[in-house]
Amino acid sequence: MSCAALGIDYPIIQAPMAGTATPALAAAVSNAGGLGSISIAAVQAEAGRQMIRETRAATSKPFNINVFCHRLSVADAAREQAWLAHLQPYFAEFGAAAPEAIRDIYCSFQEDEGQLQVLLEERPPIVSFHLGLPPQARIDALKSAGITLLASATTLEEGLLAQDAGIDIIVAQGIEAGGHRGGFDPAHDQGIGTLALVRVLVKHLSRPVIAAGGIMDGAGIAAAMNLGACAAQLGTAFILCPESAANEAYRRMLGSDRARVTQVTTAISGRPARGIVNRFMAEVGAPGHPAVPGFGIAYDAGKQLIAAAAKAGNAEFAAHWAGQGAALARTMPAAELVAVLQREYLAARG
Ligand SMILES: Cc1cc2nc3c(=O)[nH]c(=O)nc-3n(C[C@H](O)[C@H](O)[C@H](O)COP(=O)(O)O)c2cc1C
Repeated sequence: MSCAALGIDYPIIQAPMAGTATPALAAAVSNAGGLGSISIAAVQAEAGRQMIRETRAATSKPFNINVFCHRLSVADAAREQAWLAHLQPYFAEFGAAAPEAIRDIYCSFQEDEGQLQVLLEERPPIVSFHLGLPPQARIDALKSAGITLLASATTLEEGLLAQDAGIDIIVAQGIEAGGHRGGFDPAHDQGIGTLALVRVLVKHLSRPVIAAGGIMDGAGIAAAMNLGACAAQLGTAFILCPESAANEAYRRMLGSDRARVTQVTTAISGRPARGIVNRFMAEVGAPGHPAVPGFGIAYDAGKQLIAAAAKAGNAEFAAHWAGQGAALARTMPAAELVAVLQREYLAARG
């Protein structure tokens, strides 16, 4: 099945990456014939509007705007205090005090009115959902506005729910993927790999499927297409592009031997996400740690610890999200990377 609804020349999607993918990156990818994406999940609605406008100003091609659709976290003062006590020695190491209280710092498109208004008013050509689906009325409203909809699925069950809700194309996100696991409920995560998941979704769904997770080059794109995917979505492969927002420490880490070891952790944000193993994952997330607060609440503490460490020149406490193919990451401008990926894909396809 084809991805014609996306209106792209090449079957290459640059993944939305909250905090890392910029309007400049997305526009460069779209202008080069792929599909560029940004996430507005980590910013307030009006800042998201500006990002959409910046992207639109830099490309006349289709682009994708991503929002998170997680169930809102429930505050639990005792759990949060125990977690802050767990983090305290690390804050102390950097001469900082742990925050006294933490709160959910992420919007969810499950209920955020501002995000809905912005999407309906700005009408980006494509919108994608991660970490769940929004209420049906929101899906219907976006579809009525002529927007093509994508949603991440990590199991067949989630793929079927997305299809039944009217999502146009399903993004099969395998366990190899960098960043947050897109599953609807982490308690039901089966850790399915990209190969098996793409194949299962292609066989059981009537909608086109995009493959995501561990794809770093044209050979990977060809493999995904052979499995029946209509396009491949690559995140980690685009982090080293100069147009991304990745800071120097992130670029150094991804370009080093450290990129050989990635792991899924909940310790940083409160939801499972894959990144390059560092002290945050290995020490804060070591077995036996206290219960991690909910998504967004844990990330409030995590981001403050990351900032304190960065201020002290320490890159071991960071969210260096990256997939299992991280050791294959290349440094080049986004347009060049899209051209290289397309050339490699055609060569691999034979
Ligand atoms: C740094 C980073 C941030 C990410 N942020 C998002 C996000 O905001 N929204 C989203 O839908 N997916 C996000 N993802 C997951 C990607 O959509 C995609 O599933 C993943 O990058 C594919 O695996 P790969 O990194 O091995 O290519 C992120 C991935 C990375 C590496």
